[in-house]
Amino acid sequence: MNTLPNEFLRTDFGHEVYDEWYLEQGSYNFETPEFVERHFPFYEKALQLSKSDNILEAGCGTGSYSREFARRGYHVIGMDLSPNFLSEAQKITQRENLEIEFILGDYNEMNFEEKFSVIFFEGSFFYRSKEGLISLLNRIHKALTPNGRFYFVHSNHSILKKQFPMDNLSEIKKNVFVVQRGEYNESNDIERCSWLKIDLETHKHYKCDFSIMHLPPDDIKNCLMEAGFKDFHFYKKRSLEDFHPEKDNGFSLVAKK
Ligand SMILES: C[S@@+](CC[C@H](N)C(=O)[O-])C[C@H]1O[C@@H](n2cnc3c(N)ncnc32)[C@H](O)[C@@H]1O
Repeated sequence: MNTLPNEFLRTDFGHEVYDEWYLEQGSYNFETPEFVERHFPFYEKALQLSKSDNILEAGCGTGSYSREFARRGYHVIGMDLSPNFLSEAQKITQRENLEIEFILGDYNEMNFEEKFSVIFFEGSFFYRSKEGLISLLNRIHKALTPNGRFYFVHSNHSILKKQFPMDNLSEIKKNVFVVQRGEYNESNDIERCSWLKIDLETHKHYKCDFSIMHLPPDDIKNCLMEAGFKDFHFYKKRSLEDFHPEKDNGFSLVAKK
């Protein structure tokens, strides 16, 4: 039985998740410029960046990482499927007198051919099935120039699943309440999360319901090989140390075409 109005029932893990209300009133905290800056020595080393690189930041959100690339003199294009995030990214970038091209698009549908020497995902690499992952990796492989590099951060499924089930009810800010619930399905490694936010002044409410997959590192390795990547390294998250599957909560992966 379901008596909730339709607007309550958005279920896409797309830009609706990040809509205007979410951006303005939610508590979504993007990384601070200090956090972003702190990890650049790692990106520069692990990705062997050079000023001639042509970088795509996929899932750039409000553009914190794209701006740091630009500040350091790299050429970068930011892509996101949220128009609201992109307009926010543009506003902040103009305020800082930086020039970055931002494109609206779903990275799962990217269709570039040998266009970028680096494709970079930070907190934005999502897939919902093994087939979806392989299809995305194929597109990334095609979009990279020869010797191109590709980077993403991934959670360690064996540690992540211990946090579930997750129930959380808390006041966040400005009279907005959030109710959150998360489950982890061990048979397919899919995390499903839903949350509801209610603005107690306006009674505006927003529900988000999404599922994402977290494959074990060996499965990811196989998918990378299937997509044609031959050279890859699993680092401890944003660090030049090697990843330890038993103790690290996630990894940073750099793959070379
Ligand atoms: C957690 S935010 C991270 C944003 C940014 N990388 C940062 O760390 O500041 C995830 C971003 O990925 C974007 N995103 C999710 N799925 C996407 C897709 N299929 N194509 C393009 N962008 C996507 C969302 O709109 C959101 O801006």
